[in-house]
Amino acid sequence: MAEATFNFPRNFVWGTASAAHQNEGNNTNNNWYAFEQADGRIQHGHKSGLAADWWGGRWREDFDRAAEAGQTAHRLSIEWSRIQPTPDRWNEDALDNYRQMVRGLRERGMTPMVTLHHFTDPLWIYERGGWMNDISDQFATFTEKVVGALKEYVTQWVTINEPNVYAAQGYVMGEFPPGRKNELLNSFKVMTNLVRGHAAAYHTIHRIQQNAQVGMAHQYRGILPARKWLPLDVGLAGLLSGLFNDFFPRAASTGVLKFPGWRYKIHHAKGTQDFFGVNYYTREYIRFHPFSLLGKRSYDPNAELSDTGFIANEPLGFYDALKWANAYRLPIIVTENGVEDADDHMRPRYLAQHIHQMWRAVNFNWPIKGYYYWSLVDNFEWDRGWTQRYGLWELDIETQARRKRPSADFYAEICKTNSLSSEMVARYAPKIFPQMFPNE
Ligand code: BGC
Repeated sequence: MAEATFNFPRNFVWGTASAAHQNEGNNTNNNWYAFEQADGRIQHGHKSGLAADWWGGRWREDFDRAAEAGQTAHRLSIEWSRIQPTPDRWNEDALDNYRQMVRGLRERGMTPMVTLHHFTDPLWIYERGGWMNDISDQFATFTEKVVGALKEYVTQWVTINEPNVYAAQGYVMGEFPPGRKNELLNSFKVMTNLVRGHAAAYHTIHRIQQNAQVGMAHQYRGILPARKWLPLDVGLAGLLSGLFNDFFPRAASTGVLKFPGWRYKIHHAKGTQDFFGVNYYTREYIRFHPFSLLGKRSYDPNAELSDTGFIANEPLGFYDALKWANAYRLPIIVTENGVEDADDHMRPRYLAQHIHQMWRAVNFNWPIKGYYYWSLVDNFEWDRGWTQRYGLWELDIETQARRKRPSADFYAEICKTNSLSSEMVARYAPKIFPQMFPNE
């Protein structure tokens, strides 16, 4: 039997990631709450409800679990609508609650990474049109308040999580608030304002905290032509990938916003990342179709699919994502990677194969500094409600009971040894052993 150990560099960071609305519960003052109340927006009419009850204090037990499982970091987000419930009111108690959470991480030996915007907007912002307007001043004021309150414990900040997903889902696919479909021009407007918001937050943070490390979490999704020989497929895949994958990183690196056929420059957006956050889940294939602007999307028929078919297990796409990220010449942090898998039959394979690809990338000396698995405990999956389970721990939303999935132990071994070994793969993901560790 072939044996090997894939070691990671010293001080490599192993953590998990989460987001306020998905975990806290009782968030009733933002765009997602409004969306959840409307008919037909969330699968089965699910509600975020109490979620994992972090606002009620259950973050303590979950952070205990993470620390015991060898994790050295956690990425969480701050809910803007809690801090600033109305334009003229600041909630100091809410800020203090977050201060306790990030201090709680430090006390457990974990480094907090804080996201300022993870898909949710306060109702008062949403009702005025949200990011259709230039709200960078408001976002900077909120940022200033948060950074001022947490700076004793936090130096790593993500300004905006997946601005590409926010704009595409809200204005093109219609699955996120405000639920608009095929409004390409509006999505471009929103993208422009998100760049403005990011740049404003970047400069605000650095004004307050000199040693801050600021970045964005970019979702990279491999978008490949279904028929490599067909220029229409190749062209469309290139166009979509350019808009979805490259738009925000390019803007934050050069200040240039590149839309199909025109470009625009926001000077103060140039050079506004100290690290490069990558979220990777899957990759897809695009087929040109005369009646569909975005073409037809599909997964490789040979790839293993997650519970609801949402994610195809494509570890090579993760390698591509890291290669793509490396072109920006910044320290790279994998700010999310994971899979929905309620009974944990696929997750151990997904984890082993993705971490193996990351190890390959590390061996080219690409500066990958850490990995945050999505997620620590099952949480509210946006328009998919509770139908998708990403947690290392299973959550019973009726009783709030947690139950450890086998992957939690697997990931703990990886975190504690700072490596992935053939012996671990033999125990947790035996099915892929021959493929990962071939004999000859
Ligand atoms: C988002 C998370 C979400 C995950 C899985 C990412 O796009 O940042 O909030 O839970 O995907 O769907």
